[in-house]
Amino acid sequence: MTDRTTSDLPIVVTTVAELRARVAAARAAGKRIGLVPTMGALHEGHLSLARAANTECDFTIVTIFVNPTQFGPGEDFNRYPRVLVHDLQLLSSVGVDLVFAPEQQEMYPAGSTTFVEVAGLTAQWEGAVRPQHFRGVTTIVAKLFNAAAADVAYFGQKDYQQVTVIRRMVADLNMPIEIRVCPIVRDADGLALSSRNAYLSDDERRRALVLSRSLHLANKLVEQGETDTAKIVAAMRACVESEPGVVIDYVAVVDGDTLEPVESLRDKSSLHHAVAIVAARVGTTRLIDNVILE
Ligand code: PAF
Repeated sequence: MTDRTTSDLPIVVTTVAELRARVAAARAAGKRIGLVPTMGALHEGHLSLARAANTECDFTIVTIFVNPTQFGPGEDFNRYPRVLVHDLQLLSSVGVDLVFAPEQQEMYPAGSTTFVEVAGLTAQWEGAVRPQHFRGVTTIVAKLFNAAAADVAYFGQKDYQQVTVIRRMVADLNMPIEIRVCPIVRDADGLALSSRNAYLSDDERRRALVLSRSLHLANKLVEQGETDTAKIVAAMRACVESEPGVVIDYVAVVDGDTLEPVESLRDKSSLHHAVAIVAARVGTTRLIDNVILE
């Protein structure tokens, strides 16, 4: 691990060519490269990824790019918070080596027509509600992996399906990169940190706590010996529905690798991999959360 200065704003590069040149220099110096892809509007969850990269690597790159191709029509691409200076200030407290913050035309030059698509894993859950979302995610992540040529990339468990899809892409396309998944970071009251929490009014934020409460309930039922996932899902649903103004997109208990619904937790191997997932709209804000059932 390299000593990093934790006061100056990090160096920002905006072109793939400069990113490549800096990574090549770091690699020539024998450094292990860590990559933290983000869309900015950073919070403690992102900073935990950057800290993990700093601990395990010698050269940490954070990318900040609000990726248009992963937003569907009518979604929040235009209002997604863009606060680069604030993000850089937050990153200076962690001390990363480089920020890659390209403009849209750098990542999608005129005439771009190539996309990366993972079949199967993207069909359900987020993929069903947001049909083009994962195609956009895997396309930009593949581009970032190509541009940064990192050894390890860091993602948050909060986007459980995203991480599963990215792992599949990396395996299927023989990408020479390790994927590390870091735990969900929550506020003291349980709300999973998300850049989209900024959209919530105080009242909506209070209502949104029902998502983590429902996951807590799922874990408690499992601890009490419940193995029937239909009962666990029904209890989670009832919990979320008890909060007015919170509209469920999906609630499920799925296999952590295949993302297929799990019927029973009786089989110890499936218990090990079972994940409770929830997505709901609170006002106009869509939130997701999950817990690995143990
Ligand atoms: O998780 C995110 O913030 C985005 O989906 C990612 C991985 C940075 C791709 O744009």
